[in-house]
Parts: sequence; C-alpha cells; structure tokens
Amino acid sequence: MDFFNYKNQQLFAENVSVAKIAQDFNTPCYIYSRATIERHWNAFDQAAHSHPHLVCYAVKANSNLGVLNVLARLGSGFDIVSGGELARVIEAGGDPAKVVFSGVGKTEPEIEYALEAGIYCFNVESEAELGRINKVAAELDKKAPISIRVNPDVDAKTHPYISTGLKANKFGIERERAIDVYKYASSLSHLEIKGIDCHIGSQLTEVQPFIDALDKVLALIDELATNGIELSHLDVGGGLGVTYQDETPPAPAEYVSALLDKLTNRKNLKVMFEPGRAIMANAGVLVTKVEFLKQGEEKNFAIVDAAMNDLIRPSLYSAWQNIIQVDESLERESANYDVVGPICETGDFLGKDRALKIESGDLLAVRSSGAYGFTMASNYNSRVRAAEIMVDGDTVHLVRAREELVDLWKGEAVLPE
Ligand code: LLP
Repeated sequence: MDFFNYKNQQLFAENVSVAKIAQDFNTPCYIYSRATIERHWNAFDQAAHSHPHLVCYAVKANSNLGVLNVLARLGSGFDIVSGGELARVIEAGGDPAKVVFSGVGKTEPEIEYALEAGIYCFNVESEAELGRINKVAAELDKKAPISIRVNPDVDAKTHPYISTGLKANKFGIERERAIDVYKYASSLSHLEIKGIDCHIGSQLTEVQPFIDALDKVLALIDELATNGIELSHLDVGGGLGVTYQDETPPAPAEYVSALLDKLTNRKNLKVMFEPGRAIMANAGVLVTKVEFLKQGEEKNFAIVDAAMNDLIRPSLYSAWQNIIQVDESLERESANYDVVGPICETGDFLGKDRALKIESGDLLAVRSSGAYGFTMASNYNSRVRAAEIMVDGDTVHLVRAREELVDLWKGEAVLPE
C-alpha cells in the first residue's frame, strides 16, 4: 500500500497535489512519499520482531540522501555495493555499524574506507576477495568482519538480468565449495568470520525460491558448525517483488514470517534482510508532461518530457510500469498511445499501448518509480537529471535540485590553445 491516491480526481502524494508540485518544481520530477517508505520498512521490521534481526535497506534501489535519512531515523541498516554508497549512508546520518557491504569487485580503497568506518560486515564473493580484505585489514591492524555469499543454485524465476542465484551467474560461491572457502577464511589472520549470505535475484513474486535457498543455506550452517565454524548471522539478501501490474508477490510480513518459521530453533542466529525494491518502488512516481501528441500510421505517440535517461527500466528490461493521469477530471478523448521520450533511440519509451485521455500539456505519473529509477538515470543526450522531491504529510521537500547545464560538463575541459 502506498500514499499516492486520487482526491476529487486529482492525484495526490500524501496530502499534496502532484499537479501543484509539478507547477512549483517543473517536470520531469520524481516524487517520493515519506509515509510510504516508513510503512514499507516497518512492515519488514515489525514482522521480524520476535527474532534478532536487522533490516538493511539496499541503497542501490534509491540512494538519495533524503531517502537514506528517513530510513536512518527509523534505525535501518544499509546494504551497500560501493564506497560511494557508504559515503552517502554516512552523509545521510546512517550508522556504519549497521552496514553490510556486498558486491563482487570491492577495491582496496573501498575496503580500507569501510574498515575505517567500522562497518558491520563484508559480504564476500570470492577467495581472491578474502585475500584482499585480509591484506588491507592487516595493513590497518584491524580484523575485518566477513560473511561469505553462497550461491544456492535456485531459480528465482525472474528476468534473466536480475536473476543472481544460478550457477551460471557471476555471484557468490558454489555451495559445494563453501566449506573449503570458509576454512580458507578461518586460516587468514585478519578476518573474523561472522555470517553467511545469499541473494538469489530481484522482483521475485513467489516465496518458494526464497525458502529453497534458505533450506540450502541452513544445511550449510549446520555443516560449518560440525567443522568448528560457528556463525552469528544469516543474511537472506533482498529480492522481494512488488506489484507493477498484476503480480501478486507475498506481502513483506508474509515473506518474513515464512523465512522465520524455519528459524524458530535458531534464536541465536541474527537475520539480516536486504530489501530495496519492496521498500522504495511504490514509494515513488515519476511525473512527466505531455509535449506533443503524434499520430503515426500504425500508432499514436505521446511524446513526453521524461525519457529513458530518467527511467531506463522499460527500455532495459521491458519492464511494465503503470502510467496514470495526474488529473482524471479532464474531458479528453481516449486513445492508445506509446508513451515515448525525446531521446534519439527507438528503445526510448516509458510504456506502450496505454489507453489515455490526454492532450499536449497534460501531466502523467509513471508509478512504481521509486526504486531503480533515479539511481539508474543518466545524462544521455545531454539531458540534465530530474529533480527529486519528498512529500511528508502536507510538506514538500526538494531533496535533489534539478541539474543545471553547467553540471553536464563539470570536470571536463577543452584543449589548450
Ligand atoms: N542485495 C543484493 C546483494 C543485491 O544484489 C540486490 C539487488 C539487493 C539486495 C536488493 O534487491 P531488491 O530487494 O531491490 O530486489 N535494476 C534492476 C534491479 C537490480 C537488482 C540488483 N540487486 C531493476 O530495475 O529491476
């Protein structure tokens, strides 16, 4: 559930009219709802209350400082994949001691930064990375907390680009080799083995693949114990899907309790969750203005002022996101449109074949854009990135100003005469 609703046929973000925000801040712009973010995070946290746990929001979904700050105030942990994301978490008031660091390619400076900041754990993806973390920790005379990401080899049944738990994917360590890799880790002087983690993919709409992965990881935890390696936490990754169209993913509470049901006898095992999309996707919309309507021979096009550089999910994954009118009261004729941006690529579309009642100048909102929207935005076609706005009840906060043209060539130089 989210807080983007119609009142008298006008789309509102919490108590504020979306049309008013567009008027004040111009389009395209992202609008986030604080109440929705908090509601989604709390759904995970409350469902897990009976078990030691930490909800580590996956920063990659939306790394705006305003968003991170809202989560930090709730006491959230954070799942990061770069030094840049760690810097954002710290800048936003997040606690580094609640940070887990995922990703296959951590550099030495990133590891050093994370060790100095005192993060909770490195989620390690290879032996080479164990060696690198050990070396950097030794140089700093510290012990690095680590967890090993195992690849449980389950099919997440999601889009191949966002499926991560199969042997064919680059992520994690195969189950069969995990014991040996843990033994290797325990032989390294500057590592402290803390946990185990897995992440099988994103936008999962069924609970069963999560359960299958958990079963495999729990079996490994027991096998490790018989080898004298005791773990204090289990990180189940993220990946819970959301409703974009007609998907029926389990609610966070249902997902969390299904997993915790497997852990009733393991109260000493702290559980970490890394949700990104389930918290942010439906907490944001992308608002765009119709520039022109164009009748082709086969199709009608609504050319809007947002494009694939603002929201790449439709182009990249053929993702379907709902496109709705900001003002539903307007008397317009209905027609089917491909909603396209101004970028010079055939793949530049936000939605295809959408029945809309629109004219030039009308506002549209692309729903479910809070996750993997702005964070995947680019300056392609030298377009400035959109403004980001956070609504909190009756109040509107600009949490990122629209870029200016000079931002486009910041750091660039022409050649000397
Ligand atoms: N943990 C790890 C290690 C991850 O790789 C990811 C996402 C997450 C947590 C968060 O997953 P979530 O709860 O958001 O599903 N750009 C794609 C999604 C890529 C997800 C990558 N990893 C999209 O727009 O659909």
